[in-house]
Amino acid sequence: MSTLIVYSGGSNTSAVANYIAEKTGGKAVAVEDASRIDLNSYDKVVIGTRVRAGKVPSDISEYVSKNKAVIDGKSPAFFLCCLYSSEKGKKQLEKISSEIGISKSVYINKGKKTIKEAGNPVDSFIASL
Ligand SMILES: Cc1cc2nc3c(=O)[nH]c(=O)nc-3n(C[C@H](O)[C@H](O)[C@H](O)COP(=O)(O)O)c2cc1C
Repeated sequence: MSTLIVYSGGSNTSAVANYIAEKTGGKAVAVEDASRIDLNSYDKVVIGTRVRAGKVPSDISEYVSKNKAVIDGKSPAFFLCCLYSSEKGKKQLEKISSEIGISKSVYINKGKKTIKEAGNPVDSFIASL
């Protein structure tokens, strides 16, 4: 099973994307470089992004909508790097994952810190892929 992780964001988002790649033996690629990658050669696709003022960067939403048909066939999953947690975090994730169109999703707050903790939510997310 090969997994491609396409992400948009800064240091937290890229750290989480690379962590998922390392744990799955997959490949993490920034969205600006993703056009060079053939999605068809992967079994699974994970999309990851940060959020600012309730919005995700347009490059990632454009990438997903442009490649929707292929992504939908690759058991897609979505992670959101954010600051909100608890109910506020869940609500924000629900709204954004529905806009992106990927229902299997998780929010990760304090991404770089989170991946250093044992049994963190990224590990459960990876297990669910
Ligand atoms: C200008 C700005 C706006 C932000 N807006 C939100 C927001 O609406 N919701 C949220 O949960 N986090 C928000 N955050 C927090 C970031 O999403 C969070 O720190 C995330 O981990 C950043 O990922 P990055 O390091 O990949 O950029 C905001 C951060 C900044 C700097």
